[in-house]
Amino acid sequence: MPLLETQKMTKDFYKLRAVSQLDFQVERGEIVAVIGPNGSGKSTFFNCVTHIYPATAGRVYYQERDITGLPTDKIIRLGVGRTFQLIQLFLEMTVFENMLLSVQEHRGTLLSRLFTKDDSGDVERAHEILEFLYISHLKDELASNLSYGQQKLLDFGMVLMPRPELVLLDEPTSGVEMEMRGRIMDYIRELNKQGQTFVVIEHNMDVVMNLCERIIVLDYGEKIAEGRPEEIQTNQRVIDAYFGVEE
Ligand SMILES: Nc1ncnc2c1ncn2[C@@H]1O[C@H](COP(=O)(O)OP(=O)(O)OP(=O)(O)O)[C@@H](O)[C@H]1O
Ligand SMILES: [Mg+2]
Repeated sequence: MPLLETQKMTKDFYKLRAVSQLDFQVERGEIVAVIGPNGSGKSTFFNCVTHIYPATAGRVYYQERDITGLPTDKIIRLGVGRTFQLIQLFLEMTVFENMLLSVQEHRGTLLSRLFTKDDSGDVERAHEILEFLYISHLKDELASNLSYGQQKLLDFGMVLMPRPELVLLDEPTSGVEMEMRGRIMDYIRELNKQGQTFVVIEHNMDVVMNLCERIIVLDYGEKIAEGRPEEIQTNQRVIDAYFGVEE
């Protein structure tokens, strides 16, 4: 069975169908891209998978388990990590504090955390990730003082803290310079080699075509194509809906 699967996932915002009957699968070890024009339902798809809001219809399976309707923090604790399209940082805290806080909120209630000390590995883990991302020299810097690209990296680092088996990235390279884009791609590749599975929403075709082995294309919430990069590039329906349309 796939690591993550949605069956006929649908999300309506009043009369607007943002995601329509979406069948989606990602196998363990894959890097899959989700692409599509602005407003085609990509972020909404992530939001429904992680239950930021409930899907109108359809089911979600993760690791052979039906997780439809499970609260977000439980889904995260099962091993699903995700970033948001807009960077989510505590700007008035340091890089290191941000890393530590990113795991705290998924550790149950405040009360339960007072009585269980399970944060022993976090400090080492945070160091390890910051070193991996080459930003350990920034660990005591306030997040607000970082460049946009560095903030993007920190946001990415935070999602890695609980060692998610599946990582959902919503536009990980948007707005960053080319050098940083290359670095982010390298990090994703390296983590994938170490066993993590990625689903990446991207507008950047360089990233989509060079990083991802399979692509899902959405248009008006519907899956209009699915396949390897070379198949998608030459798919007329995709070309009509998407290519040539820049952000
Ligand atoms: N919370 C919401 N309430 C109402 N409508 C919403 C909400 N979130 C998204 N939508 C609408 O649902 C549709 C899909 O939006 P979504 O953000 O998923 O698109 P997207 O593919 O991620 O676009 P982009 O590439 O611009 O990020 C859009 O028409 C959007 O306006
Ligand atoms: Mg989006």
